[in-house]
Amino acid sequence: MSTKKLLEDASVRAIAYLESLKNRPVRPDPDAVGRLGALDLPAPENPTAAADVLAQLDQFVSPATMAMAGPRFFGFVIGGSLPVTVAANWLATAWDQNTGYASATPGVARLEEIARRWLLELLDLPRESAVGFVTGATVANFTALAAARNAVLKRCGWAVEADGLFGAPPIQVVVGEECHPTLLKSLGMLGLGRSRLTRVPVDSQGRMRADKLPPLTAPSILCVQAGNVNSGAFDPFEPLCAAARDAGAWVHADGAFGLWARASSGLSHLTRGLERCDSWATDAHKWLNVPYDSGIAFVRDEQALQSAMAITAEYLPGQGARRNPADFTPELSRRARGVEVYAALMSLGREGLAALIERNCAQARRFAQGLEKAGFEVLNEVVLNQVVVRFGDPERTRQVIEAIQREGTCWAGVTVWQGHTGMRISVSSWATTDDDVERSLEAMIRCAREYS
Ligand SMILES: Cc1ncc(COP(=O)(O)O)c(C=O)c1O
Repeated sequence: MSTKKLLEDASVRAIAYLESLKNRPVRPDPDAVGRLGALDLPAPENPTAAADVLAQLDQFVSPATMAMAGPRFFGFVIGGSLPVTVAANWLATAWDQNTGYASATPGVARLEEIARRWLLELLDLPRESAVGFVTGATVANFTALAAARNAVLKRCGWAVEADGLFGAPPIQVVVGEECHPTLLKSLGMLGLGRSRLTRVPVDSQGRMRADKLPPLTAPSILCVQAGNVNSGAFDPFEPLCAAARDAGAWVHADGAFGLWARASSGLSHLTRGLERCDSWATDAHKWLNVPYDSGIAFVRDEQALQSAMAITAEYLPGQGARRNPADFTPELSRRARGVEVYAALMSLGREGLAALIERNCAQARRFAQGLEKAGFEVLNEVVLNQVVVRFGDPERTRQVIEAIQREGTCWAGVTVWQGHTGMRISVSSWATTDDDVERSLEAMIRCAREYS
């Protein structure tokens, strides 16, 4: 088969797959999952025709996928992919640009430069901030916190890049009791430890209590959160940032999905003070609805990020007139992630982005209202796109969640939050219509009543 025919075949199959998501069960087909063993052959000795490889992938894997790209997947804050971003992704894959250096890959490097400026404007973050296009919020946290670690130690006269952490002044690292586990993972990878942290108690919505913040002593890093993974709640940034500024601490914000609230004039009040932080991490593959994988690290002090990430080598292009993407990310070689970010922002515009965020939040409120009206207890204040609901005691709640997942109209997962077992509903897909919410509500309530 020619390259042209092969790629046309792939697009026909991809389109059919996306079309099927409107009505197929959201969960993977259990029979298809059972058939995956057919692919588990000894390492192939001989070639297989490209068309057959593709047909096999479609036959065996497409039905074994979770319909995360579809309109009724509400598990984990996932988001779908705007059609324009899928199309841009296909084009960028064909370009196959190794996006490290502006002189070698000027087109995609320039797109990332533009996307950087647009993101800072649309999220209203300090315009001088440096931006790294990374794989996700975990690595965005890691990247920004590497800059934080190096900068706070540099202020004490310690050069981490050159001398490492052995013998360095200990850094005081402060996090909220309900910070995301990937933040702890990032701190661990940076040599700051997952458990030597100071954990600040939280309130009933998982917000860090500013009145419980310990005295901060340099060198110190305070990690705040925009969007609690269960409740969607935001830490009180104004008092936290004020305390940190007085103590000379670096403030880093994990805003994997909550940072996008700043794109909406109706919701940005939730993030008041967030602009005072020194660094921020977010995901584009969540609420911006671009394909995996795509996260973004923002660091106010460009030099701090660049000195933590940049490398030099004789064979690599040096600093030129234009921004080199590799100066701001852990990776040297990587795909051109900024292309889909650019495509999403260009196609949505400020208005479309705000409308997407606001629509999903209204849909979350509708879920909460419908479930409460049906007699079930919503555990959180629904301030953003997150709803946590329980259907009785933990065992019954788990049974109902399993029934909802099996029934297939929609998919949401289990959580244990502040001692309560509940179902987490995260609404973050461009594809979710109000009708999808009604269909899902009806299925949830029907499954829950079958167990009462
Ligand atoms: C608040 C928060 N931080 C970090 C992450 C990690 O993001 P990723 O899985 O894209 O690395 C998540 C993911 O759900 C999150 O909700």
